[in-house]
Amino acid sequence: MIELSTARMNPRAKRTDCLVLGVYEGRRLTPAARLADEAAGGVLGQVLADRDLGSTAGATAMVHRPPGLPAKRLLLVRLGARSGLDDRTFARAVKAAARTLAGTGARGAADFLGEAEVGGRDEAWKIRRIAEAYGDAVYRFVECKSGKEDDASASRLARVAVHAAGDRGAATRAIAEAAAVDAGKSLARDLGNRPGNVCTPSHLAERAAALGDEHEAVSVRVLEEAEMRELGMGALLAVARGSRQPPKLIVAEYAGAAEGQAPIVLVGKGVTFDSGGISIKPAAAMDEMKFDMCGAASVLGAVRAAAALALPLNVVALAPAVENLPGGNACKPGDVVTSLSGQTIEILNTDAEGRLILCDALSYAERYDPDTIIDVATLTGACIVALGHVASGLFSNSPELSAALLEAAAHSGDRCWALPVWPEYEEGLKSNFADVANVAGRPAGSVTAAVFLSRFVRGRRWAHLDVAGTAWESGKRKGATGRPVPLLVQYLLDRAARPG
Ligand code: BES
Ligand code: MN
Ligand code: ZN
Repeated sequence: MIELSTARMNPRAKRTDCLVLGVYEGRRLTPAARLADEAAGGVLGQVLADRDLGSTAGATAMVHRPPGLPAKRLLLVRLGARSGLDDRTFARAVKAAARTLAGTGARGAADFLGEAEVGGRDEAWKIRRIAEAYGDAVYRFVECKSGKEDDASASRLARVAVHAAGDRGAATRAIAEAAAVDAGKSLARDLGNRPGNVCTPSHLAERAAALGDEHEAVSVRVLEEAEMRELGMGALLAVARGSRQPPKLIVAEYAGAAEGQAPIVLVGKGVTFDSGGISIKPAAAMDEMKFDMCGAASVLGAVRAAAALALPLNVVALAPAVENLPGGNACKPGDVVTSLSGQTIEILNTDAEGRLILCDALSYAERYDPDTIIDVATLTGACIVALGHVASGLFSNSPELSAALLEAAAHSGDRCWALPVWPEYEEGLKSNFADVANVAGRPAGSVTAAVFLSRFVRGRRWAHLDVAGTAWESGKRKGATGRPVPLLVQYLLDRAARPG
């Protein structure tokens, strides 16, 4: 992880491996870039005159050993128009700078991109975006590689100082928030990237326990199979039956407020591998179903961040963890199970397993008399059809909670978008043999999944985030993203700032 700090810095005097400086459209330099240019005898102007810096936001150009400056390098970064820079453009520029730098030999950097004016955003917001971008850019997952070549691919960038001209307190808080988000995200990414033969339900439980050791205010318990059977978690246990890996219900409680204060309960889907079970999935890209525990990883990451920031809230993370495999003892299409809520469920498709483990965890959340419940799950392929890999699906029975999450999403840049949870969609979940079926037809698959979950949170303020399209990337950059940790942490920060 990267060391983040903030200070008011002078680009002409700053001793660093790299100054990161913004350039607006054309040849307009930001104030720090202008100062550096003057000290360096106009070298930046020459780079621009020679057209070595592209014109679209996020283009970069590196200048080595600039004359007249103690910095070893200058990284020029193209911003957009000087007035009316928006969140997106700023984020693109900041991300490009961080990625470029993470691929060089620089060990430290001093970033001045926060000088850019971004419509409606204060300096603290910009500092956070910059700092989080560096955290993202230096992240590597190499623990399963044996060779030296991978040391070479590791980023050398270890320290970044972000320039702040304004309020010191606000800047310092922004850095602390970015560091906490980074810590939460890194945990979520590590757990997600770990292969299914390592990251089993037991492994998730162990890592949660380690989180409890890391923070005084976090206590962790794990419910074992016998206890879950006694409680009557027939839906969760049905999913676990096909696997040799014992199921776990992980409970991580962060106590940051008075004992009597109702907690925010975060529930995360922890399917450490989803083969589909007897309704087995096609072989193509099945490896990516090791990421089917990213919901669980993200709620643990959010608790880590909440604890690091000592937020004045009570937060509980519940992570039902199972492996979904076919086998002689596996549950079958047509099986009817009784959930913890007492509702019976006909399992028409064993690949719709996420909702089966979540429904029992949601019922278990009841015992906390929670203020709010938010579940996070890589729940449906249909959500990717609807929203792609840009936004997570947001479903809620509360317009206020929905608005709060949309706001947190916009602020953090970890976007989600609302889809309906209307009773009209319940029709397809009717069963001839049980109270409810675990799947409806093909239409609106992510909505009917959410509607299924809503039956287990009646009377509670609840939201569901379907992160099937956002929790990991496929292709060349295959790997866990750490989403929606930034969104969850922003929601918690907002709740801590505005109680009630
Ligand atoms: N974990 C999958 C959802 C998923 C699929 C996420 C692909 C990301 C990429 C989930 O358990 C699942 O299999 N859902 C089924 C539901 C269907 C059987 C109603 C799906 O989406 O196909
Ligand atoms: Mn499945
Ligand atoms: Zn799944």
